[in-house]
Amino acid sequence: MKRRDFCKGMSVQAVAATALPSALLAHDKVRIEEVDTDRTMDQAADLVDLFTAHMRLNAVQEGETFLFYSTPGFERPEYIEASLAAAKSLGANAFSLVATTASTAQMSTDRDIAPADLLEETFKAADIVYGQIPLYTDAHNAALAAGTRTLMVQQSVETLRRMFPDEAVIERTYAGAERMWNASEIRVTDEFGSDFTLQKAGRKGHGQVGVAADRGRWDHWPSGLVACGPHEDASEGVYVIRPGDVILSLQQRCQDEIRITMEAGRLVRIEGGYDADMVRERLELFEDYVDPDGNLADPFRISHAGWGTEHRAQWHVMGMDSESMYGSVMVSIGRNMFDSADRYAGLGGVNYTPVHIDICCRNKRLYLDGDLIVDNDNTIVPADLA
Ligand SMILES: [Fe+2]
Repeated sequence: MKRRDFCKGMSVQAVAATALPSALLAHDKVRIEEVDTDRTMDQAADLVDLFTAHMRLNAVQEGETFLFYSTPGFERPEYIEASLAAAKSLGANAFSLVATTASTAQMSTDRDIAPADLLEETFKAADIVYGQIPLYTDAHNAALAAGTRTLMVQQSVETLRRMFPDEAVIERTYAGAERMWNASEIRVTDEFGSDFTLQKAGRKGHGQVGVAADRGRWDHWPSGLVACGPHEDASEGVYVIRPGDVILSLQQRCQDEIRITMEAGRLVRIEGGYDADMVRERLELFEDYVDPDGNLADPFRISHAGWGTEHRAQWHVMGMDSESMYGSVMVSIGRNMFDSADRYAGLGGVNYTPVHIDICCRNKRLYLDGDLIVDNDNTIVPADLA
């Protein structure tokens, strides 16, 4: 009987091709590639060095407990080993945890990813946590309240390196967050019909700089941005999202204009073409969600608003580059119940809707209490914030 071929050929990776079995070497359907293991080792060592440098900025100390937290399918497993090695080199006790509880993609909001009480206890037991931090959860808020420092780390290594925490970014971001703290009203306008106001009296100013060295602080490496969770019941006006703007949570760059109308805090109309449909349909999925504790859970509310402060961000790269882009304006929709005792970390919002959509725009003007902060040529106007 003739044996049937089940594959057309083979690809072999080898440290030294000469050491391969002769049958492989002689066969014309075998593609042989020599692997440079020195290069692989160098890359791994570079990654450990990068994480070690970052952990030094984050005050990782001898005897501290370091945790890398990730969810199944985490795209950058090399970060786990590299960060454990880095933490160990600084004398910390390091471990990694992968959440394995099933969650439906449809409702993925961080909330159901791991048993909340176990997550909370594990986070509290660590001094510092890197990885896929479940930002908008009560468990995370509780861990911060207990003093744990947490850092979201999930961007590409190219981005981690290019936007490694920088003194100028840190300075202008914290100055901006302080300015945000003291403001009562945020107004955003543009040349295309945007003109809306958000009220924030009593809500804090939030700043992200990629460093969480202080007790109970969350940050995202890399970041450079100022934000605030405005009052959920007080947005008014029209918000226009333009072609080229980034709807980050849908991994989508706008092709045509979206026009959102806000009345008494609610997004009452989301109009436009395909992009508008995608935003509206995403939010509508969560329309009937009822929070088990009776909290506000309305997808049609503004979550947070602010501006980017990172001069090294690149607009063509989607991700933290979009959120951090110098002089861009981000106004996001949905869940915003993240808070901490750190002066510049937290939104202090009350919305528990499971959905959160980050929207990053260029060419907007942003005012705080009538003072122009960001101009529509993507510049930051006040000298101390620029
Ligand atoms: Fe957000």
